[in-house]
Amino acid sequence: MNDAEPLPATLLDRIKNAIAALEKHEEIRIISHYDADGIASAGVICNALLRRGKSFQASMIKNLDAKAIAQFASEIDSGCLILSDMGSSYLDELEKIEGTVIVLDHHAPPRDSDKVFHINPHLFGLDGMTAASASAVCQLFATQMDAANWDLLPIAFAGIVGDRQHIRGLKGINEYLLTEGLSKGIVEVHEGSIIPNGKIGDALFYSVDPYFSGLSADEKGVADFLASININPEMSVDQLNESERRKIASLLALKLMKQGCTLGTLEEISHERFYFKRLQLYASDLASMLNACGRTDNEGIGLGVTLNDEQSITEAMVLRKKYKETILTSLKNLEKKGLTKLSNIQFFYSDNPNISGTVCGLAMQYLADRDKPTIAISIGDEESRVSSRATFEILEKGVDLSVAIGESARVVGGSGGGHAIASGATIPKGKENEFLEYLDRMVGEQKRKKLGA
Ligand code: C5P
Repeated sequence: MNDAEPLPATLLDRIKNAIAALEKHEEIRIISHYDADGIASAGVICNALLRRGKSFQASMIKNLDAKAIAQFASEIDSGCLILSDMGSSYLDELEKIEGTVIVLDHHAPPRDSDKVFHINPHLFGLDGMTAASASAVCQLFATQMDAANWDLLPIAFAGIVGDRQHIRGLKGINEYLLTEGLSKGIVEVHEGSIIPNGKIGDALFYSVDPYFSGLSADEKGVADFLASININPEMSVDQLNESERRKIASLLALKLMKQGCTLGTLEEISHERFYFKRLQLYASDLASMLNACGRTDNEGIGLGVTLNDEQSITEAMVLRKKYKETILTSLKNLEKKGLTKLSNIQFFYSDNPNISGTVCGLAMQYLADRDKPTIAISIGDEESRVSSRATFEILEKGVDLSVAIGESARVVGGSGGGHAIASGATIPKGKENEFLEYLDRMVGEQKRKKLGA
């Protein structure tokens, strides 16, 4: 591959200034998001701090708000607070904190700060949605602390892949990390395939991304499919010969096209894979482990995985299997029930808010109408949680879910945000219909605005 664009000197300067401020503290408080990218971000930072002889306390949380920030401020007592994969939207509150505050975020920030060390790719001309995961920002921070931290690259890549920033090729900071990782012999790029890895029977049955309608979580479907092409379900995908491999790949592609996937999505599914030889694992393996930990309220185990704790790794593998089964069951139910369509969006109710983001994303890709953003609503005791996902094609039509979800939530007394393609909110219970109606209108307006532009 070509050399990546050099990183902006102003970004590196800001990182160096933040590191200089951090070095004055012995104890560091770390707050990060609970998803795969958030856990990977905390993992990179915790490893780097451990090696530096610093002590730390890390927490992964679902949502940041003013109350939580006040709590963290009281805990650090003029010390050092690092926020990763969050923080850029709370500068007003963070600037009031006595002590050193470092934000390593990649969500579009409303502004910059003179007081907080605000390290966010958007401030340096790089798109945080496609060109830098939070873990990539943290990896840059860690390698600026000490070049020995390049070996943390697998963790950073778990965040990149967990946030699906690789599906259209790596850019910006992500690409820089890959170029450096290749030249240092840390990472290898392997060709991708639509055929999932492992024993072919199990691989198809457990396939979540892609979700193959009639194969995923369908024992009879898999058995009939493999019997029809004379393939032993016990055979490993690596043992398939070229013609078997091609035959299966074409049939699976056809299946996905029938489910409404575009050629673009098929290309995205077969994206390149990042292999870490020393650990003998793909970035996607680590990403799925961290994701399962975060989405089952086991963030601590996820952090343990990044710290190479053997027991955590064993537990995370069990969690990953169970989590996959839960997602598959939800997708199967959703496939049966279908989604409710409004003029510009489609939605479904989910009874497990922790997995709605993932199910929403997979439904958008493999089950739903690809022209409308997909919204998942989970009704809680006092408030309801919202997850939303779009496709790049929908974004090209002018839709920005971060803006639409954020404003629709505010209108009904809630709050939210995220990225243009993946966004979330919390709204008061009972306001779901009002929220959906407003959102539907707003997405329509965003599209009309683009058409008129
Ligand atoms: O929870 P989910 O995976 O759907 O979140 C998608 C994105 O929306 C994340 O980037 C998250 O930070 C953001 N989000 C938010 N406010 C919320 C919920 C999610 O900004 N209340």
